[in-house]
Amino acid sequence: MRELKKHIGENNLTYFIETYGCQMNSHESEKIAGVLESLGYLPAGDKNKANLLMYNTCCIRQHAEAKLNSNIGALKDYKNSVKGAVIAVCGCMMQQEGAAKKLMNRFPFVDMAFGTNAIHRLGQMLSAVLLDGKRAVATDEDETIIEGIPVKRAKKAGAYVNIIYGCDNFCSYCVVPYVRGRERSRNVNDILAEINQLCGKGITEITLLGQNVNSYSDGTKDGGAFARLIRRIDKETDIKRVRFMTSHPKDMSADLIECFGGVQSLCEHIHLPVQSGSSRVLSAMNRGYSRERYLDLLYRLKERVPYLAVTTDIIVGFPGETDEDFELTLSLVKEARFDAAYTFAYSPRKMTKAAAMQNQLSNRVKSERLEVLNKLIKDIMRQKNNEYLGKTVEVLADSVSKRSYNEISGRTRTAKTVNITGTKEDIGKYINVTVDKVMAHTLKGIRA
Ligand code: SAH
Ligand code: SF4
Ligand code: F3S
Repeated sequence: MRELKKHIGENNLTYFIETYGCQMNSHESEKIAGVLESLGYLPAGDKNKANLLMYNTCCIRQHAEAKLNSNIGALKDYKNSVKGAVIAVCGCMMQQEGAAKKLMNRFPFVDMAFGTNAIHRLGQMLSAVLLDGKRAVATDEDETIIEGIPVKRAKKAGAYVNIIYGCDNFCSYCVVPYVRGRERSRNVNDILAEINQLCGKGITEITLLGQNVNSYSDGTKDGGAFARLIRRIDKETDIKRVRFMTSHPKDMSADLIECFGGVQSLCEHIHLPVQSGSSRVLSAMNRGYSRERYLDLLYRLKERVPYLAVTTDIIVGFPGETDEDFELTLSLVKEARFDAAYTFAYSPRKMTKAAAMQNQLSNRVKSERLEVLNKLIKDIMRQKNNEYLGKTVEVLADSVSKRSYNEISGRTRTAKTVNITGTKEDIGKYINVTVDKVMAHTLKGIRA
């Protein structure tokens, strides 16, 4: 490894990472950046001049996969124009059976391909490529949790902390259990140590990450481990704000509901993907709950915290979804009055049960339904945001606006984005803001 560091340092090698996926995927990019910098790589200002170009891929929908394919074709020029250029492809797409090999065969200029469990082996792979002139592939199935990988956090305010990897739910449309493997939880003490370390660096907000954080396990069998973890984080660390992503309605325990409004550091926001408002479709999706059970959960959560912000994910056009099923999704959205919803047209994925179903819908029906749903959600979002007009909220400033150097943006505990005047010196600070304007997705305000 010393030889590799010497090579990277002497040549001032730079890297650039393109991230295509979810928060888990983004956090893995932070780990990749951490490892690369520990080896001596510097971040590249210009993607086209980086010595190492890394694509961290996603395969949740066809659209995500298409992104890589459309970008990678253009890389031949890059390879010719940058001296010693290295191209690497990693992430979920590479975890699909045979995908890495296929990619390497199709694109001879790709130097490295690796999966989500191989980030700690990046040094070895780079050594093979840079020092031995080889191509490197690492997509093993080893699911051991590796602690201590260096992390270069993209944001000063708000840090991701993994608590559980993999997914055992096998929702019938979803590729994640096939690419991320079986559920495995991090040790409580490792999680607490990481959070304490973050607090020591001045970080005050964290997001606990997992495909299904409710399945977090500490070895006991009572299903209360996740709520216990939240309480321990509150007691044993100085963190000010805790969020989590994503929780599955099927596994939401009464204990967890009690945490809202009961645990000071837990923010008043939950992302609770519903997917559909039709119990028949939910059953075909293998979600393990009905429309009624979901609405009951919302009712119980809002009983604890009436102003709790709830966001969700919805799929339209699942195989066999009828007009009536879709109407049920619309009526659920009206009843739930989500603060925001991420909506998707169903996309068939290899290996999944739903992809083999006979009653697939046309793209036209899917996009028509998506349009109707999005319009409804936009209206509700605006109404919900209007409720903030004139109110004073606590905002954690997290970034400088891309549009203007004297505007910053931050988030409330309820995960609303608020823009105010400010500079980069404000990042990481808590600012009280009175909301005076409501935009489609964000709020605007003045310092209180
Ligand atoms: N683990 C999370 C979801 C991760 S995927 C959970 O269970 O909530 C993020 C979202 O992508 C899902 O909630 C779902 O709405 C959407 N999604 C997953 N597979 C999809 C597919 N095949 N087609 C369309 N949307 C999909
Ligand atoms: Fe996919 Fe379902 Fe697992 Fe979420 S819970 S990652 S939607 S299989
Ligand atoms: Fe995330 Fe995409 Fe993988 S959504 S888990 S990066 S398939």
